[in-house]
Amino acid sequence: MTEIANNGSSRRQSGLSESARLELIETAKRYPIKRSAVLHGLRLVQREAGFVTEAGMREVAALLEMTPHEVYDVATFYTLFHLRPKGEYLIQVCRTLPCALGGAESLLSHLEQRLGIREGQTTPDGKFTLVTVECLAACGKAPVMQVNDRYHEAVTMEQVDRLIDQWRKMPPEQDAGRTTEKTADKGARRG
Ligand code: FES
Repeated sequence: MTEIANNGSSRRQSGLSESARLELIETAKRYPIKRSAVLHGLRLVQREAGFVTEAGMREVAALLEMTPHEVYDVATFYTLFHLRPKGEYLIQVCRTLPCALGGAESLLSHLEQRLGIREGQTTPDGKFTLVTVECLAACGKAPVMQVNDRYHEAVTMEQVDRLIDQWRKMPPEQDAGRTTEKTADKGARRG
C-alpha cells in the first residue's frame, strides 16, 4: 500500500458514487463470499473515476470485507486496471512472442515517434497513453494493438498514421461509434 500512499496526492481521491456502492453490494450478494465481487468493484471505480483511485480501492475493500492491500494486489495484477489517470485513447501494444515476431517492436517505435512519448507515458495534452501488454488473444493477426475497447489487427504503419490523425481530431466517444471502421480494421492487412 506504500505506492498508493506515495502517489495518492496527485490523484483524484473520489470513491464510489452511491449508485455504484449499491450496485456492488447487490453484486456481492450473488457470491458465497463477498470478496468474489472485487473485480466488479474495481471496474466500477475505474468507470467512474477514469482510473482506480486509492479512495475507490479503500471503499471496495470496506464493502467486500477485504483489506486495502488485498484489493490493491488484485488491481495491480490485471492490466485492464489503471492506477494513474490515462489518456483519452489508451493504446495497448501486444509484446508477446507472436506479435514480437510480427513487428510489434517496430510498431511500438513508430507509435512512440508519432506521439512523442515513450512506452508507459501519456502525451502532455492527455490525449494518448501508450503501453505494452501481454497477449491480446489475436495472435494470428500480429501485430495487434488494442485502443480503448477496439482491436486493431495486422497493423501497418500507414494504418497507425491514419488512425492517429483521426484520433487527434476526434473524441473517443465519437470514434467508438464508427462501427464501419471497426469492421474494416478487423482482419484487414492494410492501412
Ligand atoms: S501474441 Fe499478440 S495477440 Fe497473442
